[in-house]
Amino acid sequence: MPDTCLSLAPMEGLADVDLRAVLSGVGGFDWAVSPFVRITNSLLPEHAFFRVCPELQRGSRTPDGTPMRVQLLGSDPECLADNASRLVALSPAGVDLNFGCPAPTVNRHRGGAVLLSEPELLHRIAAAVRARIPRNIPFTAKMRLGVDDVHPAVACALALQAGGVDALIVHGRTRADGYRPPARWEEIARVRSALAIPVIANGEVWNVADYAAIRAATGCADVMLGRGVVADPFLPQRIRGVSNLGWRELFPAVQTYWSAVCRRVLPQHAPGRLKQWLAWLRRAYPEALQLSQQLRALTRVAEVDALLAGERF
Ligand SMILES: Cc1cc2nc3c(=O)[nH]c(=O)nc-3n(C[C@H](O)[C@H](O)[C@H](O)COP(=O)(O)O)c2cc1C
Repeated sequence: MPDTCLSLAPMEGLADVDLRAVLSGVGGFDWAVSPFVRITNSLLPEHAFFRVCPELQRGSRTPDGTPMRVQLLGSDPECLADNASRLVALSPAGVDLNFGCPAPTVNRHRGGAVLLSEPELLHRIAAAVRARIPRNIPFTAKMRLGVDDVHPAVACALALQAGGVDALIVHGRTRADGYRPPARWEEIARVRSALAIPVIANGEVWNVADYAAIRAATGCADVMLGRGVVADPFLPQRIRGVSNLGWRELFPAVQTYWSAVCRRVLPQHAPGRLKQWLAWLRRAYPEALQLSQQLRALTRVAEVDALLAGERF
């Protein structure tokens, strides 16, 4: 097993609290990051942090004990710092800053990837937030390579390092790249070689071969996994050398997810959550394709219960 640290990427609207519980429960992750808490111009109440990261109410860990770090997104250094202080009082397993979100609504309000055109502001944000985070709480930032091109990547990374982040997660794309493959792993390498702090590589790791390739291309020991682990929850285990894991072994996790979703969301929304996950699982498991086809027309919880109960191997 390679000496590596594997983390679960924040995925707003996809890796919800239920899926995070299931994916981390399947195993192999060292830590995970919540989707972003958006900070605009006010000090958020505690429940705003709990809404995005309910794990904060359980020691900032998923049910199996994986530490959950909480991500903040915003552009005002002092306001971010004040909110970081409030977050620290809730004992997060870590704090991460978002400089990667490409969403136009977020970018219009000077949040996420658009700030990569302002390395000096990145530095001020990191330094202001750093000042509020005790040394024993990991403090990271997650960035793309730039807004329209990769040129600002190293300057932004150096600014964040100088601002005091402990490690930097780099998603190997610009905002303009969206999610179009391939990810530019060679640019992550450029950032890594310019920095003294650890760089965590992220982007387009779907299988064990991709994992080996991103490590070789970037020189990074540590990798953050996103959509690849939604498609194949056993990916961290496979990377760690566990084999013979298939649909039969995964199916209990699908049932666990479904039960959790039914407890948490309105009945009319529950089947949609399961359909969304199965749409990703289809990439790695033919059985998930079959199940999602059977599920397509179902809209009622009882019908989905019956379908899952009848799943045979
Ligand atoms: C649906 C979705 C939501 C995302 N939400 C966030 C987010 O809240 N914060 C963040 O930093 N990145 C977010 N990302 C980006 C991922 O964390 C990750 O950087 C990206 O998907 C590339 O990694 P991958 O190819 O392994 O998926 C999101 C990605 C997706 C697909």
